[in-house]
Amino acid sequence: MNHLEFRNICKSYGSAKALDGVDLSLRGGQVHALMGENGAGKSTLIKVLAGVVHADALTAKVDGIEITLTSAQAAQRVGFRFIHQELNIVPQVSVAENMLLGRTFPRRFGLAVDWRKVNARAQDALAFLGADHINVGAPAGDLNTGDRMLMKIAAAFVFDPVTDERAVLYVLDEPTAALTSAESELLFDVIGRLAATGAAVLYVSHRIDEVLRICDSVTVLRDGQLVSSGPTSETNKAQIIRDMTGRDVADAYPTAAAAPRPNLIVGMAGVSAGPLSDITFELRAGEVIGIAGLANAGQSILLETFMGLNPITSGHAQLQGGALPRSPEHAWKRGVAYLPKERRSEGLMLNMSIRSNIALPHLTGVQASVRRERQMAETLGRQMRLKCEHLDQPVAQLSGGNQQKVLFARALHGLPDLVLLDEPTRGVDVGAKYDIYCTVREASSKGCAVLMTSSDLPELLGMCDRILVLQDGRQAHMLDCDGLSSSDLLSYFYAPKAA
Ligand SMILES: Nc1ncnc2c1ncn2[C@@H]1O[C@H](COP(=O)(O)OP(=O)(O)OP(=O)(O)O)[C@@H](O)[C@H]1O
Ligand SMILES: [Mg+2]
Repeated sequence: MNHLEFRNICKSYGSAKALDGVDLSLRGGQVHALMGENGAGKSTLIKVLAGVVHADALTAKVDGIEITLTSAQAAQRVGFRFIHQELNIVPQVSVAENMLLGRTFPRRFGLAVDWRKVNARAQDALAFLGADHINVGAPAGDLNTGDRMLMKIAAAFVFDPVTDERAVLYVLDEPTAALTSAESELLFDVIGRLAATGAAVLYVSHRIDEVLRICDSVTVLRDGQLVSSGPTSETNKAQIIRDMTGRDVADAYPTAAAAPRPNLIVGMAGVSAGPLSDITFELRAGEVIGIAGLANAGQSILLETFMGLNPITSGHAQLQGGALPRSPEHAWKRGVAYLPKERRSEGLMLNMSIRSNIALPHLTGVQASVRRERQMAETLGRQMRLKCEHLDQPVAQLSGGNQQKVLFARALHGLPDLVLLDEPTRGVDVGAKYDIYCTVREASSKGCAVLMTSSDLPELLGMCDRILVLQDGRQAHMLDCDGLSSSDLLSYFYAPKAA
């Protein structure tokens, strides 16, 4: 079995130390978790191993032999394979081509690309994952988030056709953040198989229960420094949270605000829209309604309906006495704010500043005062513990979780009348989750009406007043959260609609 040693990893961006003398030791055949709050340095460490970011200092050894990681090719040659946090895909080209991107394509007689071979290799890699339902010839843009992730993971297994070298390390940066629980189970199975090949696996996740279950050992970083490292059998959830945050984090949900106010914000009666049907509910100022169901039951699409992205075909729908917005621009103008699920592709303007990203969609005809705008952005940034140097920094320089916090801050900036939150805590660390819960509660107590989805059932029950259950796009139940347990809620995902 291989033994991988990384010593004294340092990386600074200007005056900020993203990594400050971190040591990491990995063993072949074992799954090692890397944990830490948003901005702790996990992705930076991984990019250093991948040769994508150049460390200011680093000693790396595989089985006692020193190696250099000066380029992506160098990392590839020593047998390191990566699935990065950002799923960069080329949507127009086929799944197979996406999987072989950056590799040498098999060629016939050294000339034309051998497409049959390309497709066969891609197919084999997907089959190894148990994901042969994915069509390697289809454009990658047609895949849903889970399948995109599986495609990326499979791509890491496609051996270099020229050298066919063996992998010694697989690195996965938050692979389950976008996966449903069934897809996650498939992935855990794959991770087990990867470790069984004798390779080391380095696994980044914010889900502590998941880490305790599937990892042999865990390293925790805080502010770029190593806090702890050891077998998962010798630690526990509370200890990991303390290591990550340096404090005890409330493992609870903030209490609900006062009773909902009477103003009707949304009224839906017998609405059909795209795949949705039978949607009937009222949402009042200060109320939080969760939207739940099995994966892809229409949760996100219901939110999109209020952004003008899914026009209604029958029934009556109103937003504050008027028709639903016709377009996202129209929706923001009418006081509807939206946190999309696909954060990077749909949400952020990466090269623009944090402040512009938070404030921009809210600006109406009258330009808001710059000072006031800055103040609001600063307050939200503080509330969310946004880790940044200043608000004029480009969003691209923030860690993945902090980018999400920016979008979240944008959704609540200026207290909109209706806030649509699609999986608001995805990819966010434990401490920041609680901050998000408090911020949502505060907004609702000030009169915001909230519609949110989450695949985390305790989170839905902790945050919502009522929960609308969708089954295949159809509204099946509207439940009061008082006294409802997670298993009760889950049973409603299957229970037939009362006549
Ligand atoms: N290109 C860059 N320029 C300036 N600062 C950067 C750059 N890339 C990362 N940083 C900073 O380095 C720190 C570590 O970021 P990193 O992405 O490694 O965090 P992370 O642990 O992966 O967090 P998350 O859980 O949010 O993904 C952050 O403070 C981030 O803002
Ligand atoms: Mg990261």
